[in-house]
Amino acid sequence: MPSVFIKTYGCQMNERDSEAVAAQLVAKGYSMTADALTADVILLNTCSVRDAAEQKALGKMSHVAGQLRSKNRKAVLGFMGCMAQSRGRELIDKLPDVDLVVGTQKFHRTADHIGDLLAGRAGGVVDTGEEKGSEATIREHLLNGASDKRPVTSFVSIMQGCNQFCTFCIVPDTRGRERSRSIDDIVSECRELVNRGVREVTLLGQIVTSYGRREIGERDGKSAFVQLIEAVHGIDGLDRIRFTSPHPKGYGDDLIEAYGRLAKLCESAHIPVQSGSDAMLKRMHRGYTRKRFLEIVGKLRAVRPGIGVTTDIIVGFPGETEEEFEATMSLCREVQFDNAFVFKYSTRRDTPAAAMENQLPRELIEQRHAMVLAVINEMGARRYEKFVGKTMEVLVEGPSRRNAARMEGRTRCNKIVVFDGGNRFHGELMELKITRNGSFTLYGDPAIVNLN
Ligand code: 5AD
Ligand code: SF4
Repeated sequence: MPSVFIKTYGCQMNERDSEAVAAQLVAKGYSMTADALTADVILLNTCSVRDAAEQKALGKMSHVAGQLRSKNRKAVLGFMGCMAQSRGRELIDKLPDVDLVVGTQKFHRTADHIGDLLAGRAGGVVDTGEEKGSEATIREHLLNGASDKRPVTSFVSIMQGCNQFCTFCIVPDTRGRERSRSIDDIVSECRELVNRGVREVTLLGQIVTSYGRREIGERDGKSAFVQLIEAVHGIDGLDRIRFTSPHPKGYGDDLIEAYGRLAKLCESAHIPVQSGSDAMLKRMHRGYTRKRFLEIVGKLRAVRPGIGVTTDIIVGFPGETEEEFEATMSLCREVQFDNAFVFKYSTRRDTPAAAMENQLPRELIEQRHAMVLAVINEMGARRYEKFVGKTMEVLVEGPSRRNAARMEGRTRCNKIVVFDGGNRFHGELMELKITRNGSFTLYGDPAIVNLN
């Protein structure tokens, strides 16, 4: 059977979508390969959130097309995901070697399209329409054969799309309006994962705190999202629950209270703040103030003192004044984030911010980016140092990505811990004594030898 190479750009949502497409293809008898240049099918699952991500995928495709076409005229070259959705046929016009463009609501159709293309029944397929119910189609998981490779953590897609329309963001365009899966559907997927050995799930969506707002609504003062977390929490054998990405607007007292009550909900929160300036937050259409953001972090730290707090920040949004930039710097210092993704503002077509006056010069954006990064790195190092000497619960996920001779896992507060140990620790929840810290990594020693 033909072999398939998939490369994923962007967020965890994309990783999850790629995994579902791979599972779909493997079920039909295709094999997966890590070598693009010998594959029969090349799929790039793309990201549109910043221009750099689009350019990377375009560059990769033209490189692969140049190398592969001369050797294998029948190879299928396809774009999937966000850039496929927003650019559609334009991608084939630009790169005529491309045979397939699959949008964000059509991942479940990928295998059929590839079958048609390989059999010569179709050519130049563009499938980017809207499809009702497509949010529930991403549920296949790739089963890894060997027992020691079995995933212990898994992503579960709970919703698609976003209705927030932040003025810089292309996501409402690429992923469409909010659509949520049912609680029953999500719980049964999680249960099945637990039966296969998964101990931690991450509930995924572009704006998870808006989960089920229309479809399910509030009950007993609890948002649909909190009702979902409670339902997942009830699954026997599941040890940890995480979610990403939330919106600050969604941190009502019901969610804060859930942290105090639901032990499996890990004490880590990735809460994108974007800016520390109220005027800027308004121009971004974020829907909260600096004060409100600080209040949320304060409340979370009050219920879960060890909570790890990370964020996303954008520098160089149109019209960003020195004072507004300083407000972001001071917010970072005030919150003391554990880590942050710092992004240079990237103009996205058809977004309100693209038409705003006073787009900042590249050099200034670069300069500000470096300044925020320096603060984040310094704060991170200080926060990570504090863990040295402590004993922490780690869920062992597999060999370390940097050094396969070691193992790695995550603490409940989402810090990576690397330690000397073999595969017998795979999938174990264990206590590790932290011996030293590196850059956004901890190193540990098994403290209590409760395993054999
Ligand atoms: N430019 C730079 N960063 C962006 N993000 C979203 N849109 C843009 C853009 N146009 C960032 C935000 C968001 C993260 C996923 O990507 O910080 O939280
Ligand atoms: Fe984009 Fe804003 Fe929606 Fe996040 S909340 S996906 S930044 S529009």
